[in-house]
Amino acid sequence: MKAVFQQTYGGSDVLVHGDLPPPSIGRHQVLVEVYASSINPRDWLIRSGKYQLQFLVPAFPLVLGSDISGVVAAVGPGVTRFKPGDPVFGMKNPAQGLGAHAELVAVNEKSLVRKPDNMDFDAAGGLPLCALTAWQALVDIAGIQRGKRVLVIGASGGVGTFAVQISKALGAVVTGVCSAANQALVKSLGADLTIDYKTEDFRKNGAVYDIVFDTIGRESLARCSGILVPGGVYVSTVPAPGNFVAAFTSTLRHAVSKSGKRCAVVMVRPERTGLEAIAALVQKGQLKTVVDSVFPLHEAQKAHDLSRSKRARGKVILHIKG
Ligand SMILES: NC(=O)c1ccc[n+]([C@@H]2O[C@H](COP(=O)([O-])OP(=O)(O)OC[C@H]3O[C@@H](n4cnc5c(N)ncnc54)[C@H](OP(=O)(O)O)[C@@H]3O)[C@@H](O)[C@H]2O)c1
Repeated sequence: MKAVFQQTYGGSDVLVHGDLPPPSIGRHQVLVEVYASSINPRDWLIRSGKYQLQFLVPAFPLVLGSDISGVVAAVGPGVTRFKPGDPVFGMKNPAQGLGAHAELVAVNEKSLVRKPDNMDFDAAGGLPLCALTAWQALVDIAGIQRGKRVLVIGASGGVGTFAVQISKALGAVVTGVCSAANQALVKSLGADLTIDYKTEDFRKNGAVYDIVFDTIGRESLARCSGILVPGGVYVSTVPAPGNFVAAFTSTLRHAVSKSGKRCAVVMVRPERTGLEAIAALVQKGQLKTVVDSVFPLHEAQKAHDLSRSKRARGKVILHIKG
């Protein structure tokens, strides 16, 4: 099969487009013919050897890629929910071997769901990891509810564009922090208000929030405490040591006094319930992938460089088939 792989850590020039043997599947795994995937910041962090959980990364030749949309090619003997020909989407973490930047990938059955038929494969290739991160942060960790006030920092990025839409779909009042150039985009996704982080400090306009979702990682519970209501939650996508310490101590405090403000770090998990909830929102027309650009697999280097610039609006897609 064709794949993009690397034999050493380094810049995007270590990525090679070439042939590798196809993966084999286990009893509860599905072989997916990959139609599209996307680049996530973890891809260029792992590529360069700088990922926080690098010890979980598979050996060389290393095929990156967490996001998968495609069609089932074969199933293991223990698979019950899929058959060859089914259109699916899902994701893999490093501990599950990554490998989505290739024509074929082996995926655990429980990390896949059926692709919504109103979304094309390219858009579905940008959906799983970022939408699941936003879902798990807002729903599973922060307990978002109708009427809650949510601040999304980094609202124009991969995670942020999904976070704004999910918050809105669940009835929250959403403020998006993004640059002036991205305000129209973020409002079009449902944000009630936008704040330009280059000209305004969102801590100083008098607004308060039930949930601050920080997808950029420059903030902390301490810095955002003044804009959180009693019992409010600061959730970060960045596993910085300070966030873990704050998560531990603030959870203890919160257990004693429910009005205590909490810190949490989301670590995305490839799980079926969240993927199904995301697929249902897509099916209802409440969630879409904002596509910044689409690159063919053999141009993965360019796709990595664009994601690495940290300026992408929504998702950088790798188109593999179709
Ligand atoms: N823990 C987990 O499981 C998990 C899961 C997913 C992602 N992450 C992490 O979450 C972070 C975000 O991921 P992503 O995929 O959303 O990244 P991304 O798509 O690459 O983010 C790019 C966006 O960030 C915006 N941005 C940059 N600096 C900003 C700032 N200071 N304030 C507001 N917006 C800013 C950019 O807009 P402008 O050009 O307008 O600045 C751009 O639209 C990464 O660090 C990633 O590694 C962690």
